[in-house]
Amino acid sequence: MRVEAVILDLDGVVVTTDEFHYQAWQRLAGEEGVSFDRKINNRLRGVSCMESLTILLEKAKRKYSDKEKKEMAARKNRYYVDLLDEKLKPDGVLPGAMDFMEELKAHGIKVAIGSSSKNGMMILQKVGMDAYFDAVVDGNDITKSKPDPEVFLIAAKRLDIEPWDCLVIEDTEAGVAAGIAAGMKVFAVGAAADDERADVSAPSLEHISADEIIAALT
Ligand code: BG6
Ligand code: MG
Repeated sequence: MRVEAVILDLDGVVVTTDEFHYQAWQRLAGEEGVSFDRKINNRLRGVSCMESLTILLEKAKRKYSDKEKKEMAARKNRYYVDLLDEKLKPDGVLPGAMDFMEELKAHGIKVAIGSSSKNGMMILQKVGMDAYFDAVVDGNDITKSKPDPEVFLIAAKRLDIEPWDCLVIEDTEAGVAAGIAAGMKVFAVGAAADDERADVSAPSLEHISADEIIAALT
């Protein structure tokens, strides 16, 4: 393949927001008396807010109505957005991410975001990167969340690049599956670094150069 575009997941690949998601879910679970830990949290990575809530409530002592679930999702989102507001600054960009993307741009490779988050644009504004990408596709643009490939296919279309010339960078199981289902190559980092389905992997973008990745795929 020729790498003509790279589509990066946002939470856990470009920014540190995954910890804020964890804290917001933990606060909600505490208020509802539902047991929650980092192991359960790992299953929420990369999937939509409502699907995350369904997973969180697997351990609940009672059933919740749809109305209650909507209220809880909105409450979790408030806690999350408050954390973003208070704590997310330009230094929330993960180590190595900026250099990696600059290297891609220097090679004439297009760079996009493919995120399940409805807060994607707000996050990019907070870290000062809202004008940095050739395309941003987030939770507001999709009807099916990862592992469905929709988010990455829309990004490829907006970039006008064929899926097979795109590389996805992901840190979650659902995201790696979505990239493969989109017919794209996948580079797994962070929590997904040991996912054997990925074409290439590294602990983070700090540990490998864009040149090394491109060479490994071509
Ligand atoms: C993904 C996160 O990017 O977005 C998930 O990895 C999160 O943990 C999902 O649930 C939805 O995000 P938001 O901002 O719409 O709650
Ligand atoms: Mg992620």
